[in-house]
Amino acid sequence: MGARILDVPCGQGRHAHLLAESGYDVDGLDYSAKLLTVARGRGTGPLLRYTRGDMRKMPGRWSKRFDAVLNLFTSFGFFAHPSDDIRVVREFARVLKPGGLLIWHGGSRDGVMARFLARDWWTSEKTLFAQEREFDPVSGVLTVRSTWKRGVKTGTREHRLRLYTATRLSELFADAGMIVEQAYAAFDDAPLKRTSSEMLLVARKE
Ligand SMILES: C[S@@+](CC[C@H](N)C(=O)[O-])C[C@H]1O[C@@H](n2cnc3c(N)ncnc32)[C@H](O)[C@@H]1O
Repeated sequence: MGARILDVPCGQGRHAHLLAESGYDVDGLDYSAKLLTVARGRGTGPLLRYTRGDMRKMPGRWSKRFDAVLNLFTSFGFFAHPSDDIRVVREFARVLKPGGLLIWHGGSRDGVMARFLARDWWTSEKTLFAQEREFDPVSGVLTVRSTWKRGVKTGTREHRLRLYTATRLSELFADAGMIVEQAYAAFDDAPLKRTSSEMLLVARKE
């Protein structure tokens, strides 16, 4: 059997099902019943299981179960209080086997700030998209207001995300017993730089 991998949060299972097809033993966890329905629609089987749950409190039976935990595509920093982000990090550490790897991918606060755009807009398939962004340096929270317009139809959405530097995340991981061994600018081999707006950190559980 291939390594045991947890994809959390897995959303619509776009990574989990590919990993299972490649022979890994995969669990996916997400809070959204709707997205998990989409995920299950891609297929399940003995190597792929989906669980609805909160990443702040994952199943007790998962302690020391996984060889790798994946937290991909801006899936961290959602909570109003930073202590909830710390709970998530502790959960990642709890479910990893000693020597297991956490693969964390999301925004890098240093790079996002270096290229900060308070406003921008673009068009795609006859739809105009616009975003306004505000950043609070004390809380680290980025607020993004998105608007779209296609013909006479329009919509708006606002979301907030706490942004972390690689330094702060490495400290949080180390406090939970996971040591960052590699830091990349995203999914290629390029090393993380001050201006990288995305980062991929590889941390090993002690
Ligand atoms: C940006 S999506 C990324 C999903 C997936 N990693 C991907 O790359 O497709 C973030 C996901 O976090 C999930 N989520 C938000 N809060 C959560 C929580 N407290 N526990 C588990 N999942 C949560 C959402 O339902 C959503 O699927």
